[in-house]
Amino acid sequence: MTDYKTLQEQLKSLIEGVPYRIANLANASALLWQELEGLNWAGFYLMREGALVLGPFQGKPACIRIALGKGVCGTAAASGQTQRVENVHEFPGHIACDCASNSEIVVPIRQGEKVVAVLDLDSPRFARFTREDEAGLEGFVRILEEEWGKME
Ligand code: SME
Repeated sequence: MTDYKTLQEQLKSLIEGVPYRIANLANASALLWQELEGLNWAGFYLMREGALVLGPFQGKPACIRIALGKGVCGTAAASGQTQRVENVHEFPGHIACDCASNSEIVVPIRQGEKVVAVLDLDSPRFARFTREDEAGLEGFVRILEEEWGKME
């Protein structure tokens, strides 16, 4: 079980006083990749002109553009709600970037009412992500949301 309190502290110290969004998201994805077991992909998609575009990540090369409402990421972005999927093969419209993925969690990153990005984690294990992971990752994202406006 991940120690999310420590993980959140680690994120804070990594991004504190760093005004560059790409640098911070790159370090955030590397931190998740290092500290969470059983992942095959960890990273971000950023809203660009009404679609999600691939951002900093760890794992295999992934699809570059995801339309709003499509796949797990596009559903999270369109609804503004975290999507925790125990079996991606049962999720309508799931986009298989790495065929090793069996479960996935996507947490939207918001500024006010608007979704500006999503955090996406994939696992080869079915039901890898628990409610505790969901709460911990939402806390992780809150830290990014607080700093978002200060980053260019
Ligand atoms: N599986 C995702 C696509 C992104 S990759 O997993 C990195 C989806 O259905 O949105």
